[in-house]
Amino acid sequence: MSIKENKYLTPRFHLFPISGWLNDPNGLCQLDGVHHIFFQYSPDDPKGGEKDWGHYSTKDFINYDFTGVFMKPDRPEDASGVYSGCAYVEDNKMYLYYTGNVKHAGDYDYILEGRESNTILVTSEDGIDASEKRVLLRSEDYPDNLTLHVRDPKVWYQDDYYYMTLGARKKSDEGCVILFKSKDKINWNFSHFIEFEKFGYMWECPDLFYVDGKQFLSVSPQGLEAKEYSFQNIYQAGYFNAKKDLLADGKGLGEFTEWDYGFDFYAPQTYVDENKRTILIAWMGMPDAEYGHDISIDDGWQHMLSLPRKLVYDSNSGKLLQQPIAEIMDLREEKIDIKNIADIDSYELNMSEFGQDDFTIQFNNGFDVKYNKLTNDLVFSFTDKNLGSNRTYRKLKLAEGEKIENMKIYVDTCSIEIFINDGLYTFTTKYFKAKEIKNTLAIDGSIGNIEAYSLKSFNV
Ligand code: FRU
Repeated sequence: MSIKENKYLTPRFHLFPISGWLNDPNGLCQLDGVHHIFFQYSPDDPKGGEKDWGHYSTKDFINYDFTGVFMKPDRPEDASGVYSGCAYVEDNKMYLYYTGNVKHAGDYDYILEGRESNTILVTSEDGIDASEKRVLLRSEDYPDNLTLHVRDPKVWYQDDYYYMTLGARKKSDEGCVILFKSKDKINWNFSHFIEFEKFGYMWECPDLFYVDGKQFLSVSPQGLEAKEYSFQNIYQAGYFNAKKDLLADGKGLGEFTEWDYGFDFYAPQTYVDENKRTILIAWMGMPDAEYGHDISIDDGWQHMLSLPRKLVYDSNSGKLLQQPIAEIMDLREEKIDIKNIADIDSYELNMSEFGQDDFTIQFNNGFDVKYNKLTNDLVFSFTDKNLGSNRTYRKLKLAEGEKIENMKIYVDTCSIEIFINDGLYTFTTKYFKAKEIKNTLAIDGSIGNIEAYSLKSFNV
């Protein structure tokens, strides 16, 4: 079945692999006006397989060039996968650092033996042609108390040094970040661990970044125990506020905040664009997720990237707001009456003036978001288990006295992104249509102001 025949499944404004599998965003950067969005890519298998890097580029986040495979395993140091990594831009060139994953054939657990994880550099000026690969670090260059799970370099320049974070799993089964320093971005020396009390067994995709001069560390931890209102997915993604400079000794990790409360959000990466915006893009998916069947596999592809979100520091809460970047507004076609939603392929909803009582917003007769005043929580549920592929619900507890002020919601053909209170909280989730269905929207409760816009598709 071709993607065209299944138009009701094809995302209209979310990047997807066209055919095959997509996971983490990689190498995010802007060079000469062009934003480059690389991603973990298995072009031949919608269920994943050999990991390559795929590549999209765009100037305006509406018109995209998809240029397919940028690099793939082609040497002993990355034989089992060109894993995740980052871009650092200097002198009009992208320096792309990634993990060359190697699994030796044999009966190994691949935690303490049978695996290599090499940190490799390639450069590119256009995201299409790549230089020779250069191996910078090998497993023996990482601290001895680590397992062989070390990966996902993120590199930046600050105060006369280049810095690199890598995510790691200790032999004591604790997740951590290791920090390397360099004078020339080629020769790297281990500096120190950035760690917390035991907080899961592995931290993937670390990203140390600044918003408004404040330092944050994003990680995707594995092995946290689920609670009623937190850590509800199999793996998590969130950020630590830094209490003191993490480049000094790595002991300054403060509070951990989950990035998202939906079912499908993992391995986010940030970059600073030429307008000095810090933009975050996440994988709209979840590794090893415990649900039935993602229907898009039947159409030859699986997973998407989230909308690009600008990060804003909120001095009231000390937290980060995630707001769809301004370019996404250019997707608006026209203002619509929600009574006509059945005629619309994809849309944006903006709601404010919430009466402070219970409310329910139901989508496509299959999933809803419900506010309960008594428990002061917001619950996203699949009421039609087919649309959720057996997934149930995810819950967000508001703080004491906190109210729902506004919601911005993007409904695409097979995903929904909900931004609450200017992006202080988000729910990001895929849904699965086995056949064409018309959009429906039913609102129960008092919401004073509702505006809706039909959205056009990206051009790829
Ligand atoms: C996160 C991750 C990374 C790894 C990549 C492999 O989803 O597991 O740690 O580099 O995916 O595709």
